[in-house]
Amino acid sequence: ALVSMRQLLDHAAEHGYGIPAFNVNNLEQVQAIMEAARETDSPVILQASAGARKYAGAPFLRHLIEAAVEMYPEIPVTMHQDHGTSPAVCQRSIQLGFSSVMMDGSLGTDGKTPTDYEYNVEVTRRVVEMAHACGVSVEGELGCLGSLETGQAGEEDGVGAEGTLDHSQLLTDPDEAADFVKKTHVDALAIAIGTSHGAYKFTRPPTGDILAIGRIKEIHARIPNTHLVMHGSSSVPQEWLKIINEFGGDMGATYGVPVEEIVEGIKHGVRKVNIDTDLRMASTGAVRKFLHDKPKEFDPRKFLAATRTAMKGICKDRYEAFGTAGNA
Ligand code: G3H
Ligand code: 13P
Ligand code: NA
Ligand code: ZN
Repeated sequence: ALVSMRQLLDHAAEHGYGIPAFNVNNLEQVQAIMEAARETDSPVILQASAGARKYAGAPFLRHLIEAAVEMYPEIPVTMHQDHGTSPAVCQRSIQLGFSSVMMDGSLGTDGKTPTDYEYNVEVTRRVVEMAHACGVSVEGELGCLGSLETGQAGEEDGVGAEGTLDHSQLLTDPDEAADFVKKTHVDALAIAIGTSHGAYKFTRPPTGDILAIGRIKEIHARIPNTHLVMHGSSSVPQEWLKIINEFGGDMGATYGVPVEEIVEGIKHGVRKVNIDTDLRMASTGAVRKFLHDKPKEFDPRKFLAATRTAMKGICKDRYEAFGTAGNA
């Protein structure tokens, strides 16, 4: 059944687990996530980014997700809109049938320019008012995603701030978080702790100075009843990086957020963990390897099925590691 995000996250908080929120763009991704969820008995959050809506069109995404709900009636599914850049964007998603929206007021309507605190409070508060009237959950964001190593937001053409961010923007302030939640009534809060979107998060395996898991604990202590959200939480699997580079790719050396660090976050209030890049990497690695191994093959279903198997493996690993498994 289609459920609000609040329902899923409340259960997760009560039982001390986290839920991966996977970005979806195509049929095979949706199938991979649902198959993994069925095999592990996990609740599901499927989210559509602005890029996904541009690629597939919101109606296609909505119907893919509705098809998942229909084919997997035993699994609760949240249809979440990722990184809305204005109340109007969120309103459109609510109208389309999304059961949860993110109002990312940490950036302006261009999705690039960092905003001031008052602006963020105002747009988020407005979305909460509108969404809650429709039974839809709201995620807000305080602080800007970006690297504590370089001050850069990461992904060039994706979601993220333009220019260099300073240290205070890159780490969510616990007192400000408490004030933000009090003023906006968001259901969940995305926080900045040094992660960024995309595959190039860290130039070395991250340590506490560049991945501030300690900050999660400080925020959770101030707002224990608010569900925390980690963005930029792909782990950048080294085994897939190797396959990509072995079969014609050129991604260079790079590191993501270790699964153990996410698990530590889950012990301190993180309930939603956003993952996109890991599924992209598994997909790309699977296609590169498949076409290299089977040069005579020309049926796209063959390599698309290989992407599905690869993505499903990552999903199952995350459902198990985050304690989602067994909670559908
Ligand atoms: O929010 C970031 C996600 O990785 C989505 O990226 O806009 O390229 O689909 P995208
Ligand atoms: P990754 O790029 O680390 O997968 O992050 C995805 C994300 O935060 C989507 O909102
Ligand atoms: Na989101
Ligand atoms: Zn994000």
